[in-house]
Amino acid sequence: MKISPSVLSADFSKLDRELEKMWNSGAEWIHYDVMDGLFVPNITFGAPVIKCLKDKTKAVSDVHLMIEDPIKYIEDFANAGADYITFHIESKSDIKQTIQKIKDCGCKAGLTLRPKTDINKLLPYLEMIDLVLIMTVEPGFSGQSFMADQVEKIKIVRQKAKELNLDLIINVDGGINTENINIVSKAGADVVVSGSTVFKSEDPAKTIAELKKNAVV
Ligand code: DX5
Ligand code: ZN
Repeated sequence: MKISPSVLSADFSKLDRELEKMWNSGAEWIHYDVMDGLFVPNITFGAPVIKCLKDKTKAVSDVHLMIEDPIKYIEDFANAGADYITFHIESKSDIKQTIQKIKDCGCKAGLTLRPKTDINKLLPYLEMIDLVLIMTVEPGFSGQSFMADQVEKIKIVRQKAKELNLDLIINVDGGINTENINIVSKAGADVVVSGSTVFKSEDPAKTIAELKKNAVV
């Protein structure tokens, strides 16, 4: 299990040191929550911030776009150093064209969906993408409670990927803690996003080690 700390829960006055701390504590990925105040009722940061932070660690950069029209900004995020660019199927950009654009820019493509959206709407794209992000909170804010009813979606995607023989990463985002990580892991997750759990911890290395230990199926 890989851990992807979400920058949204970091202290924004010292982001570089916050990310270095996570990398030194055993996090292999870093999750960037990009929000535009339209797709979700919150505004965070854009590509210039990711560009400044990308080289502070060797972590995989996991960019989660919660924006209305992602296709317009794919090049910017690719140029900022994104490894994975994940966007919402509920956004207004054409899904296939956006996936293609991400690939043309040399990045790996991810798709995600809101908790209320039917997983069957995402499955037709599985063969075109590298990652599925299952949301276990409503997108918009960190620190919300884990929605256990979304775990079924992880199982469905894992099963479908197996049937199609796909090398697909399943990433799970929202309300993850040292207890529920085991359910998520058993359901088939490869990566979990962790905002408040790792950033609010007094000892992130210990918390990350505990997350990984509890994830073991
Ligand atoms: C919610 C974001 C999440 C969030 C995770 O819109 O996509 O990545 O920051 O934070 P926690 O782990 O606190 O739920
Ligand atoms: Zn996220």
